[in-house]
Amino acid sequence: MQKIKIGVLISGGGSNLQAIIDATRKAELNMAEVAVVISNKTDAFGLTRAKNAGIEALFIDPKAFANRVLFYEKVVEELKNRGVQLVCLAGFLLKLEPNIIAAFPRRILNIHPGPLPRFGGKGMYGHFVHEAVIAAQVEFSAVTVHVVDEEFDHGPTVAQMPVPVLPGDTPERLAERVLKEEHLLYPQAIALYLKQLGLVPASK
Ligand code: GRF
Repeated sequence: MQKIKIGVLISGGGSNLQAIIDATRKAELNMAEVAVVISNKTDAFGLTRAKNAGIEALFIDPKAFANRVLFYEKVVEELKNRGVQLVCLAGFLLKLEPNIIAAFPRRILNIHPGPLPRFGGKGMYGHFVHEAVIAAQVEFSAVTVHVVDEEFDHGPTVAQMPVPVLPGDTPERLAERVLKEEHLLYPQAIALYLKQLGLVPASK
């Protein structure tokens, strides 16, 4: 069977990218393959991870374009040229423009290191999320995988895993436990969503 092609957009370390790549090489996600990894940062370690895994890795510089829409036109072109059917954001820090969302309707997923919608939105990323969760004294943080729409951290949830906030937690400690869960949840959520889209038979 022809594998489903995933394109991954990153800006940094790419540990979620690694989890996705690893899962495509096991039963968990072997109906899919990562066809290309695109970064908006030249020094993103995720690019090295992709190359090490034998996957095409592209740096596309947003500054080389007159505006973001043109930048995303290029990103879409590269994704489409490789037959990408699902786009996964994995620590991709730029806001998407409507043109890329329209090019992949309901076909873009994101992972967020906290409960949505409460701990999401503009400026709510990385350590800001964990700081806000601790300051709010909630019992649980979470990992949330959701479909991307025009609003930040907004589209429907595909999968969510609660992560307990422990007494004395620091943002760093919480971040570490959340990240471990991200690596487990993202590949599973992708597999579920591919079935949901009808791209793989439900029995697989
Ligand atoms: C993760 O915490 C993810 O939830 C968020 O950005 C971080 C990316 O980490 N969107 P990595 O680059 O996958 O290691």
